[in-house]
Amino acid sequence: MKDKPIIILGIESSCDDTSAAVIRDGVLLSNVTASQAVHEAYGGVVPELASRAHQLNIVPVVDQALKRAGIAKEELSAVAFTRGPGLMGSLLVGVSFAKGFAASLGIPMIDVNHLQGHVLAHFIKEGDQGGSAPPFPFLCLLVSGGNSQIVLVKAYNDMQIIGQTIDDAAGEAIDKCSKVMGLGYPGGPIIDRLARQGNPEAFTFAKPAIPGYDYSFSGLKTSFLYNLRDWLKDDPDFIEHHKEDLAASLEKTIVDILMNKLRRAAKDLKIKHVAVAGGVSANTGLREAFKDHARRYGWTIYIPKFSYTTDNAAMIAITGAFKFADKDFCPMEAPAYSRVEL
Ligand code: KG4
Repeated sequence: MKDKPIIILGIESSCDDTSAAVIRDGVLLSNVTASQAVHEAYGGVVPELASRAHQLNIVPVVDQALKRAGIAKEELSAVAFTRGPGLMGSLLVGVSFAKGFAASLGIPMIDVNHLQGHVLAHFIKEGDQGGSAPPFPFLCLLVSGGNSQIVLVKAYNDMQIIGQTIDDAAGEAIDKCSKVMGLGYPGGPIIDRLARQGNPEAFTFAKPAIPGYDYSFSGLKTSFLYNLRDWLKDDPDFIEHHKEDLAASLEKTIVDILMNKLRRAAKDLKIKHVAVAGGVSANTGLREAFKDHARRYGWTIYIPKFSYTTDNAAMIAITGAFKFADKDFCPMEAPAYSRVEL
């Protein structure tokens, strides 16, 4: 007799995306995300507005994910949900929904660390495609609006942060520089688009000199701001005249900082399987730098599909599938946590 399929519903609500996904026997059937445009006017995510939007979105998003997957809720084996880190009000919507849903169906709950989910996005399989999941151990550069880390991934549930930012995250620095230039939020995709038309050597910004594999981006942000102030004194339209070159030079500086430490870590640990994950992994310059490193240093690289770079529930569902196999469930009283390491 054929084994009953393992069907996991994943739920993600840690920041400003409400997402639900369904995975059957490790293969993704659906991934539905409602993003929140409401924050654009404020130049950043407003926590209170985010949790309100999650409340509106969660039921239709889960409903759509089940419908697109062609799965009835009674067929689900477990509900996996993002427990943290993230915005508490946002997390609470997903966590409470997951609890109610799992309890009503009498199925287990699986708590997922959002950062672990980003790293495991490389294991998402669509259809019959074999996918190209990295073998353990591999290195993962996890770069988002809230994190910049080099993670040594020894197993799906054994990850060690070997380097991380001591202040701002890479995405945060990009977003802030974009804001200073009056370009809008989120800055990442805007800077990316402008950078394609600019000269990356046009301007030079401060690069940090800190030991080990750690990162720092606050000095770069300040250097960008102070330089811009000086240039604006001479030419009030400096940004308009140079925005492509500014974007390209900023992007190059950030990519260089990220890759220098990652290259050193890969060399020291003798690891040639290197992945990138998180929102900033959508960046064209960073993706090109990965491809360049593959050619120059013999790395095998793993770059996620665009849809799995930013927050999504597919990565939560696949992490849930790994944990389900180990019967690693969580109790009903498990609280959300706003801060937690891998
Ligand atoms: O992983 P993510 O969606 O959210 C969390 O922070 O958890 O990452 C969002 C970050 C933002 O800072 C955004 O500006 C950046 O990813 N981002 C990009 C690009 N697309 C998104 N940064 C550079 N280039 C992009 N194409």
